[in-house]
Amino acid sequence: MTRSVSPKVCATRLDRILRPIHSWIWSDAERRARKLLRFAETEADGGRDLSRAAELTPDPLLRRLYLAHASDEQRHAELFRQRGRGLLCSFPSRSNPAFQANWFAPGERGLDDLRVDNTPDDALLAFLHLSEKAAASRFAIYREVLGHDPATRAIFDEVLSDEAFHMNYTYSQLTRVSPQRYRSRLWWSRLGRLWKGYLRFATALAGVIGTIVLTIQYFVLLPPFAWLAKRAARREPVGWTPISAKRNNSMGSQY
Ligand SMILES: [Fe+2]
Ligand SMILES: [Fe+2]
Repeated sequence: MTRSVSPKVCATRLDRILRPIHSWIWSDAERRARKLLRFAETEADGGRDLSRAAELTPDPLLRRLYLAHASDEQRHAELFRQRGRGLLCSFPSRSNPAFQANWFAPGERGLDDLRVDNTPDDALLAFLHLSEKAAASRFAIYREVLGHDPATRAIFDEVLSDEAFHMNYTYSQLTRVSPQRYRSRLWWSRLGRLWKGYLRFATALAGVIGTIVLTIQYFVLLPPFAWLAKRAARREPVGWTPISAKRNNSMGSQY
């Protein structure tokens, strides 16, 4: 399989509608740097998992493709890391880092949701195809809003053509290794991603609700108890308190 033809990858309609928010997220240099460093970690993780998949697969063609894919992800990690560090070094760091909006603008999710060791090749290829497709469309919108930072934009340009290749080879290999079941594999994988997305959303929502409830408790429930405790403290006699003679004579216990 060659990379000579790289189809144009477009951002999703939703990302186009939300373009002003993406522009805002990528406008801050420090946030940009930290996001790139985070992307680098995800890409490196994906590369390690693909190397493991190459070790496990019995298919020689897939082994070669997984290894090429793994080396691409390692290269992406290095590109993101170098640019992120370069940006971080170009300005004094703030004491209060900018809000990252990671749930809104994630990088390539990679294989973080999948156990490579227990996954057959067709399920792995279906998962990879959908992940690469999602990553490619995300990177397309990031590239569009990075007009003010040509160096970072050039990195997304380079990475994007690799992601398009990953998206295509995983699909064509899926149809090769599982010609009868590739559609059902893709649907199961979509459902899995939907479920993981729901869990991520539910966890984030639970965090927000927990913060709100604890804040309300702090300001509504705590003050009456603090007031009662202060009132009780005022009633306590100050200093040493004499005890009764009866209790004072007992040698059987401390009190
Ligand atoms: Fe990548
Ligand atoms: Fe990729």
